[in-house]
Amino acid sequence: MSNAASGIQQWVWVPKASEIAREAGARLREFFSQGVETEYKGDVDVVTIADRTVEKLIRTRLSEVFPEHGVYGEEGTRERLEGQFRWYVDPLDGTTNFAHGFPQFCVSMGLEQRPSSLKAEEDGTLVAGVIYDPLRDELFSAEKGKGAFLNGKPIRTSPISKLAEALLATGFPSRKRHASPNIHFYQEFTLRSHGVRRAGSAALDLAYVAAGRLEGFWEFNLNPWDTAAGILLVEEAGGRVTDFEGRRYRIDSREILASNGSIHQELLALFADMFAGRGLSPIPTPAEWAAQREAAAAAKD
Ligand code: IPD
Ligand code: CA
Ligand code: CA
Repeated sequence: MSNAASGIQQWVWVPKASEIAREAGARLREFFSQGVETEYKGDVDVVTIADRTVEKLIRTRLSEVFPEHGVYGEEGTRERLEGQFRWYVDPLDGTTNFAHGFPQFCVSMGLEQRPSSLKAEEDGTLVAGVIYDPLRDELFSAEKGKGAFLNGKPIRTSPISKLAEALLATGFPSRKRHASPNIHFYQEFTLRSHGVRRAGSAALDLAYVAAGRLEGFWEFNLNPWDTAAGILLVEEAGGRVTDFEGRRYRIDSREILASNGSIHQELLALFADMFAGRGLSPIPTPAEWAAQREAAAAAKD
């Protein structure tokens, strides 16, 4: 599709943000091929020189092209946050993958517009988002009201309308994992769908929901730099984003449920059942499991 037909020529922020994300991604690619040393933020929360260097690069570039805009980055950048526009930046989403040489990570940049009348605790509107996967050279982008795109071509969420036919994704926090109840949800959703991927980059998971590669994604305890760009992508591609109770997602909600829209009610219903302790699958003892396996094999003979 030509730029004119796709509406790209009307875009306000995406072209410049895309250039920055591509430059940042190229830096990540270099670090990835050289290999980097890992430091620890907490007991298992890794950070590398790539996270810090690339956040600095993005912060510098944003201040050159959008000098009025604020920047709120995972690695500590807090600049011009009193203004009307604020970028949520994750310079490297998927650091654990990156540190292990596992090729799944991205740059994520989401722009929130905050009118001056807004109180500090109120949400603005997400107006632009760019997620760049430097290893596949895939650039996902969206602006509010203009649709979502992958390398300039429009993308839509998947038409699948049953959880039983859905491919899902989730993630687990890199620290305080024992405090997350998500493993229980992982089990129940795995049993009721085509499967749950845990690929290690929440921003790419959201971009994949937007692109129709996944029907749904959920995670506990994410931050705005993980989600801002991906939320807009999903919504602009025709999907739905809420918290686990179906309420409008707020930028500081932390618990996120994103889907193609068609399976959202089914996902919410399972969340409601699980939080109420209804219909959970029991874990068999090893002997029960062996008996079930043998019975299934015998039934085939
Ligand atoms: C992490 C990734 C991961 C998710 C974690 C995030 P980081 O971000 O998005 O998929 O499960 O909750 O913290 O630390 O690699 O930027
Ligand atoms: Ca992240
Ligand atoms: Ca990160």
